[in-house]
Amino acid sequence: MSATASGDGSSHPDCFDLQAYLNSQTLAVNQALDRFLPRSQTKPATIHKAMRYSLFAGGKRLRPALCLAAAEACGGDNLDTMPLACAVECIHTYSLIHDDLPAMDNDDYRRGKLTSHKVFGEGIAILAGDALLTQAFEIAAQCKGWPRYSHQTVFRELTHAAGSLQLIAGQVADLEGEGKAISASQLKYIHERKTSALLCCAVRLGGMSANCTRSQLQALTDFGYNVGLAFQVIDDILDITQSSEQLGKTAGKDAAAQKATYPSIIGLDRSRQIARRLTDRAFAALRPLKGKSSVLEALASHLLKRDR
Ligand code: IPE
Ligand code: IPE
Ligand code: MG
Ligand code: MG
Ligand code: MG
Repeated sequence: MSATASGDGSSHPDCFDLQAYLNSQTLAVNQALDRFLPRSQTKPATIHKAMRYSLFAGGKRLRPALCLAAAEACGGDNLDTMPLACAVECIHTYSLIHDDLPAMDNDDYRRGKLTSHKVFGEGIAILAGDALLTQAFEIAAQCKGWPRYSHQTVFRELTHAAGSLQLIAGQVADLEGEGKAISASQLKYIHERKTSALLCCAVRLGGMSANCTRSQLQALTDFGYNVGLAFQVIDDILDITQSSEQLGKTAGKDAAAQKATYPSIIGLDRSRQIARRLTDRAFAALRPLKGKSSVLEALASHLLKRDR
């Protein structure tokens, strides 16, 4: 399926059936992940079952969708981008398995199902996370490499986003912030790292897999950064406004754990305004892509309006 709204990429996102696009990209990503992962019977079967349990539990696949849409905005195609889209989803799923552990957010539900540690025990859940993180690099190694972006560049992109300066730094600060009164700028530091870094990485890798120019990569970086920040503000809002059934994870946990969130610091209405402003910045960032970015725009609008 073409990722451009009208074939020439110039039509308004409203004319474009985003849900059909997401369904078709989710199917393609799921099929690719199924091919990339060891079968569940492969010994030791417990770990492969646990990896697949969380990976195929029903995630929204938004990072792969963003990665694939970024590639198409720069003239790439799904096949070249798919290993990178899948690698990012493996890293994301690992981060959720560990995020849910009793030693972290201690959650019992994820993606509408019991969390990994509830089903397999803590030891296997930790190992399933470790294995998915490692699997991500094995999958990424299957990308072909591009004139402007070597394998080394792609690996540095992934390791930086997932490492102790970004995603892990955010998770550390998130844990250390529990129960403390933190400032809006400290909260932004957390959101930039725990959420925006990997989301931005997904978008950038999409561009790289299309051998994008420097200015295209800069546009995608600004877009991914702002959408990533908005994404976590919305996640924090939904934790308050939605039911557990709707979210597929236990609602109301942030307040219970005394997490620092935008709604807890500035209230729901101002949090919504911030998410809106960040999404507007994301739209503005797409200008250099000159009419090729209608799917990315549609995705950013969707992420702002999402209800789960
Ligand atoms: C949840 O991410 C964790 C955050 C970074 C806020 P998603 O809302 O994308 O979760 P899935 O992948 O759909 O389960
Ligand atoms: C999760 O943030 C961020 C990462 C897993 C890196 P949250 O803790 O807010 O995500 P949910 O609400 O559990 O999905
Ligand atoms: Mg958390
Ligand atoms: Mg959590
Ligand atoms: Mg949350």
